[in-house]
Amino acid sequence: MEIIYAKNKDEGSTKAYEIIREALDNGAEVFGLATGSTPESVYEKLVASDVDFSDAVSVNLDEYIGLAGTDEQSYRYFMEQHLFNEKPFKASYVPNGLNDEAEEIERYEQILAENPVDLQLLGIGQNGHIAFNEPGTSFDSVTHKVELTDSTIQANKRNFEKEEDVPRYAYSMGLSSIMKAKKILLLAFGEEKAQAVKDLVTAEEPTGEIPSTILVNHPDVTVIVDEAAAQLIQ
Ligand code: GLP
Repeated sequence: MEIIYAKNKDEGSTKAYEIIREALDNGAEVFGLATGSTPESVYEKLVASDVDFSDAVSVNLDEYIGLAGTDEQSYRYFMEQHLFNEKPFKASYVPNGLNDEAEEIERYEQILAENPVDLQLLGIGQNGHIAFNEPGTSFDSVTHKVELTDSTIQANKRNFEKEEDVPRYAYSMGLSSIMKAKKILLLAFGEEKAQAVKDLVTAEEPTGEIPSTILVNHPDVTVIVDEAAAQLIQ
């Protein structure tokens, strides 16, 4: 696991932007993308650049169940606003939060099988979740329906008018789906991520209570942290 220390979120996002561009220049065709506040400025930098994703495919990690892609709180909408509208891909896949569970799982696993991810961008939850794989998620998990933990609902409610509006369920790529990516780029910015960063980078082996630690077994992981997120490991 390579750790890149950045001064702040902006510097960290620039490094992430450079790694994504380099991957594209080196022939990466499928980009696994993430939502949340963490990758926002990476997307801003991509939008401001002359990068061209029109021959590439994107596959997103997760989506709230019950929200249509046109809903402003959906992850599909987030991706359109932050990236896809300005930098379209040949195809962009996001789980469909309105689809029936069994159908959606089958559909998304098929998409992942046909589009093996070259570079997967990840954020991290304060409890160590990646995508919506909450503590206790099986390391063998593929795309599945998730009940969000209270800590995730609390963390995500800032994006909603009121807490009751935060969906309780989501579809998420599983931990084993994420591990199939050739390269993983995890970003963590801000002091609220410091414990999660410490738990990840000091883990010697994966532990089910901290889903991110599955990455210890991945051969190509880069973690970019800013000073605030790195405060417990330096
Ligand atoms: C959400 C998303 C994750 C994201 C995490 C952190 O629950 N499902 O993909 O990494 O929260 O979000 P943020 O980047 O806003 O801190």
